[in-house]
Amino acid sequence: MKLILAIFFVFSFSQGFAQDAARGKGLYQKCIACHGEDGRGNAAEEAPMIAGQFDWYIISSIEAFKLGAERKNPKMLPFIKDLSNADIADLAAYISSMK
Ligand code: HEC
Repeated sequence: MKLILAIFFVFSFSQGFAQDAARGKGLYQKCIACHGEDGRGNAAEEAPMIAGQFDWYIISSIEAFKLGAERKNPKMLPFIKDLSNADIADLAAYISSMK
């Protein structure tokens, strides 16, 4: 079962859907408080700069925080726990495109 899930997971990101940066911009509004409007991060919140990061890295980071085994952050969790795979992909497309 785990293997099937893992295959589905990889497949859904590699083949699944076209990323929509415009939709990602809308979803990003709730990230601004910590990561900043321009994605440059916020030292007071200990939130790192994410603007211009590779989209695959943004996706794998958010997934890692969502699963909570490899990476944990109780402050950010409420903001990402209900994101769908499509939401995460769209967010990644937008964040990655930020200069
Ligand atoms: C309450 C503050 C807060 C909010 C809101 C928040 N984050 Fe974060 N985020 C953090 C903190 C703090 C870290 C660093 C966590 C760590 O490494 O332990 C982080 C880390 C990340 C990372 C990993 C960066 C890296 O280089 O590894 C990504 C990607 C990210 N956030 C995306 C988002 C997105 C997308 C949203 C909105 C859906 C969001 N965050 C909302 C605080 C926040």
